[in-house]
Amino acid sequence: MQQKVISVLSFFVLSSLLPQGIGNQPNIVLLFADDLGYGDLSYYGHPTSNTTNLDTLASQGLVFSQFYTASPVCSPSRAAILTGRLQTRTGVWPGVFVPPNKGGLPHNETTIAEMLKPLGYKSAIVGKWHLGVGENGNFLPTNHGFDYYMGIPYSHDMCPCPICFYPNAGCLSGCDRAYSPCPIFENDKIVQQPADFTHMALKYSGAATSFIKSNAASKTPFFLYMAFQHTHKPQFSGQEFVNSSIRGPFGDSLSELDWQVGEIMEALHESGVSDDTFVFFTADNGPSLHMGPHGGNGGLLRCGKGTTWEGGQREAAIAWWPNMISPGRTASLAATVDLLPTIAKITGATKPNVSLDGYDMSPILFHSKPGLREAYFYYPKNPDPSKGLYAVRNQQYKAHYYQEGSHCQNTYPDIVCRSNYSERAVDPPELYNLLNDPSEVYPIDGTSDEYKSVMAELNKLKDEFEKGMVWGESQMHAGSSSSLNPCASPGCTPFPSCCKTPPTEKWRNDLWHHTTSSHIP
Ligand SMILES: *[C@@H]1O[C@H](CO)[C@@H](O)[C@H](O)[C@H]1NC(C)=O
Ligand SMILES: *[C@@H]1O[C@H](CO)[C@@H](O)[C@H](O)[C@H]1NC(C)=O
Ligand SMILES: *[C@@H]1O[C@H](CO)[C@@H](O)[C@H](O)[C@H]1NC(C)=O
Ligand SMILES: *[C@@H]1O[C@H](CO)[C@@H](O)[C@H](O)[C@H]1NC(C)=O
Ligand SMILES: *[C@@H]1O[C@H](CO)[C@@H](O)[C@H](O)[C@H]1NC(C)=O
Repeated sequence: MQQKVISVLSFFVLSSLLPQGIGNQPNIVLLFADDLGYGDLSYYGHPTSNTTNLDTLASQGLVFSQFYTASPVCSPSRAAILTGRLQTRTGVWPGVFVPPNKGGLPHNETTIAEMLKPLGYKSAIVGKWHLGVGENGNFLPTNHGFDYYMGIPYSHDMCPCPICFYPNAGCLSGCDRAYSPCPIFENDKIVQQPADFTHMALKYSGAATSFIKSNAASKTPFFLYMAFQHTHKPQFSGQEFVNSSIRGPFGDSLSELDWQVGEIMEALHESGVSDDTFVFFTADNGPSLHMGPHGGNGGLLRCGKGTTWEGGQREAAIAWWPNMISPGRTASLAATVDLLPTIAKITGATKPNVSLDGYDMSPILFHSKPGLREAYFYYPKNPDPSKGLYAVRNQQYKAHYYQEGSHCQNTYPDIVCRSNYSERAVDPPELYNLLNDPSEVYPIDGTSDEYKSVMAELNKLKDEFEKGMVWGESQMHAGSSSSLNPCASPGCTPFPSCCKTPPTEKWRNDLWHHTTSSHIP
């Protein structure tokens, strides 16, 4: 009896803690940048980036300083944000999908779009999917719960180099000539091949804003997953942004990303739904140091993309929802896998009945309280069941059990980041205190009592976590076939370089209709 009273009481206490609006089917907008470093936004300290729209979002929202992505590379990171499960569970390991792959995100996984469908949500993804295409496009987003898709279904360097800057100013990057020209899909059809990068941002934001406006008009709750092609290499932008940034081509691309954010925010305001929309911005992994000054910047964090140093997996992150989320900063630990449980909470959706790796972020977002997450578990770009975790963080402490450099020039000053710094066990593990040493440069003395007691705890946590990890069957091992290169003119020769859409301007003209160019400088 007494227990019942307590649980009824705690129910009232808990529900009164939930702000009004929750459970009323707010819209969800997830803004996901590509290969953007922790130090790349002007709000996060970059001296020459021009990200005014993201800065506005940050000044009106909650800014995270210890937010993690599930993987230091694209596909696994994307699988995790959409399913709330680490890539080791979903089978999106090792590495990333390439265009001729047969595999993709397994259909038995539940994406945020699928989770929201029973509540009447409409979902769209605009931009980079990177969770497989497969035979007859059976892994495309429209087969994973999305009602609409427009974009290149993988990285835009997985195709021969496109024209990136106008007029023909080059791309500053190598691209893969073995694959077909970059295709832009609309749902499961190729609408443009090769993709025209000089108008891509306009097309992407046009698709995103018309999705927002039409759902707002019909009062349909929506989930927009805006997966920017920016700022992955090769850098590109429309004519309006070429040479617009004092930072150079990376700055031009980033400014164009920021412009797209502005278009989306304006569409939310203009359609009168901004008060009912939860917006979250972050990125898939750290900066590609391989690109040197033409790549991103991890700020004070060590190394970048492809590594389990902080620069590979800690990201800028901003949560925005007027009157619901108080503006400010938080040092609470949180991660991309926390988004699915958080979105389930704020929409009233039923979470998929599977092992999830995330925590509901409501205490951080709505109550200015510390979050539920105390630990973070780092798998490398190529997880291997025989090695397991590369690093474990618990509260302030992070131990490295394995290290490997990646996506980095071999002349980079810090040798552990370099691509030619091969994988190795770190034995005894290196231990850092990330609260006073976020740059991971002062390892804690291995003979100290602090080291011994902290390592005993971290080793235990690691063992328990690994015992509970059920590895999904690798989808990268499903094989590949050159014939799976997306092709708008099947049967053409020489395949796949001949793949092209017919020379018509129709599609481009159609898209111009639902774009607003008010923000183009
Ligand atoms: C950012 O861009 C705006 C608009 O194009 C311009 O007025 C401003 O000077 C730029 N700021 C920096 C720091 O580049
Ligand atoms: C951008 O700047 C480069 C280098 O100064 C120059 O070669 C190029 O013509 C400029 N492009 C445009 C569109 O102004
Ligand atoms: C969740 O799955 C477990 C086993 O996988 C099953 O026993 C349980 O009944 C399921 N719960 C619901 C609510 O479907
Ligand atoms: C990595 O490459 C740099 C530059 O070529 C070279 O000096 C260095 O010895 C290489 N390191 C290893 C471990 O091969
Ligand atoms: C989906 O199926 C794969 C086997 O193909 C399995 O490894 C994975 O655990 C399954 N996922 C779920 C959520 O049931």
